Amino acid sequence: MNDRKYMAVSPGAVIPEALPEFRIYIRSSEGRYILWALEGNKVGTDQLAKLTEGGLSEVFIDIQDQFKYEQYLETNLGSILDNRWASNDQKATIFSNVSTNVVKNAFETSMGLGVMSADVMQRTQAMVKNALLFISESKSLQALAKMIGHDYETYEHATKVLWFTVSFLNSSKDILEKIQPGYQDLDVEQKKEVVRLCGVGAILHDIGKAFVSKEILHKDGPLADIEWEVMKRHPLSGLAMLLDTDLPLFVKKGILHHHEDFNGGGYPMGLEGLNICILARVLRIIDTFDAMTSRRPYKDPETPAKTVRIMCGKPDGSKVTDDSEQDPRDQGMRPCFDEDLLRQFILFLGNVKLDR
Ligand SMILES: [Fe+2]
Repeated sequence: MNDRKYMAVSPGAVIPEALPEFRIYIRSSEGRYILWALEGNKVGTDQLAKLTEGGLSEVFIDIQDQFKYEQYLETNLGSILDNRWASNDQKATIFSNVSTNVVKNAFETSMGLGVMSADVMQRTQAMVKNALLFISESKSLQALAKMIGHDYETYEHATKVLWFTVSFLNSSKDILEKIQPGYQDLDVEQKKEVVRLCGVGAILHDIGKAFVSKEILHKDGPLADIEWEVMKRHPLSGLAMLLDTDLPLFVKKGILHHHEDFNGGGYPMGLEGLNICILARVLRIIDTFDAMTSRRPYKDPETPAKTVRIMCGKPDGSKVTDDSEQDPRDQGMRPCFDEDLLRQFILFLGNVKLDR
């Protein structure tokens, strides 16, 4: 007797020319599992056409191959988003599942914020899925697929920035009012839409890094001047990629200005203070927080508490410190941020309890 257990997966995950290391089954009308593709077999476009034209909503894998399947999704996520055989809903479901695991793993390991409850995981899945559906409709999906295909770590970072941005803004109605004047008077669905658009800006903020070589992105040491110039182009490249999409202006400005510093020392335009749009000022804080709490090519992750101290210019608590003890790339960070927003973000962080 066949006592194998199978799990349903989305047919949208099956992409032409990739070589999954697991078998794929389909289920007959009598409930029997029939082998459809062997591990290591490239799946041809004609096979995929038959699968999708038949309106199949799920295919199956042996449950013992779940880990391999998850690795396959991570490796091929960019191609899956570009897969013309998959529906937008299938892509959004796959993307939100992979992304939720990224956020969960980061919070439970490097950030040490506690075990993510099933409830928070569900909300994270919905948040990411909504953002991706909007991205699909706004014609910016290809740009996102390009970025993920180029550099998976940029995608992981962007996913976490999405989570923090949406969670932070949901607890900060006054900031949402500044992002979208008249927010308080909107109905529930319109309010959700404003937050969703901010999340879209968050996940796309580094999309221009698709044009920065991996050698520069992952360099284990200081960037040479010319490399730094290339790196500094990514907000502009990001805007260029998204210019013809239906994203609203405040999202495009958020992406273009997310490296502008409050004191005018940022790039690409050297804007200052309130001339920087508020979504970009929020992203500047969250982008930095996530980068510092993540493993970087040149540094181990900092704890959230130490990161906040460094961002406030007090790496050793209340002690007045010598900046030379800090990593040069973290020195003198405080003037980069809008202090009011930074204060609100720190208060929000104090309330992040993932295990509730
Ligand atoms: Fe960036």
